[in-house]
Amino acid sequence: EDHNNIYLLKFKGFYFHCAAFDTGLSENLDDFEIRDDDVFVVTYPKSGTIWAQQILSLIYFEEHRKRTENLEAAHRVPFLEYSSRDIDFGKRPSPRLFTTHIPYYLVPRGLKDKKAKIIYIYRNPKDVMCSYFHYINTYPVFKAADTIEAFMKQFLEGKVLGSVWFDHVRGWYEHRNYFNIQFMMYEEMKKDLRSSVLKLCKFLGEDLSEEAVNAVVRQASFENMKDDPLANFENTLYRGFGPKLQEGHFLRKGTIGDWKNHMTVQQNERFDKIFQKQMKDFPLQFIWDVN
Ligand code: A3P
Repeated sequence: EDHNNIYLLKFKGFYFHCAAFDTGLSENLDDFEIRDDDVFVVTYPKSGTIWAQQILSLIYFEEHRKRTENLEAAHRVPFLEYSSRDIDFGKRPSPRLFTTHIPYYLVPRGLKDKKAKIIYIYRNPKDVMCSYFHYINTYPVFKAADTIEAFMKQFLEGKVLGSVWFDHVRGWYEHRNYFNIQFMMYEEMKKDLRSSVLKLCKFLGEDLSEEAVNAVVRQASFENMKDDPLANFENTLYRGFGPKLQEGHFLRKGTIGDWKNHMTVQQNERFDKIFQKQMKDFPLQFIWDVN
């Protein structure tokens, strides 16, 4: 393919990082055994994945809230398709927490009986695209793109890990009735993290004390995560990701509307046209800027 990216691997119509095929799990996700109390964070990349991992880890682990145990949130809420070499999921105590980028049609069969819970985080796609642009220029996950113009083409065609953003969001939303799923919007989390945490606790059936909720909100703020080596992903070992390409951080800006600093008027118009066509009749609203 023209983007000749050595890290991406397309399987059943979806682009994975090739590390997902180290163990054979990804080819057989369909049969992966689901427990009733499993919880999954599902995202399209750059939509708030590690934020959700941090929040879930804090909700479920007092030792995280109290900082009595030195474990990365990414280890407590590991990636389904990227961690099975390091973690024996079958031996994990319940409730097991997972993270995944997979589309709705690749999920383990057992998820469709609606017992396990799914949290789907979505973010406005212009900010997703800009976050992604910086991400791929910081980490060699795949071939870097020199300009927003070049990356926009790649992103809209779905030649990135996660494939086409429109398909991911639409697919999960339109099949929501098959799942026990809670949709969460990145921008709403950003505007009112406390309410979002409470909403999540309710969905998960986790009854936290006020003090515990305060600890979750405090430790899941952008500023706290950025300074926390267990949350900021600076030390996380990404197999196959190699050394950084250039200066940059996983927790980069964490704002709403940064796309305005990146896209030209013309690029924005083109994006809007495609968005309107692809998301026609889509009922979920998006927040494009802070006001
Ligand atoms: P930006 O690049 O716009 O800063 P993912 O984890 O899905 O890859 O998403 C990464 C994006 O989520 C980055 O966006 C990152 O800064 C943002 N993010 C991570 N933690 C956050 C937090 N606590 N608050 C707000 N944004 C956060």
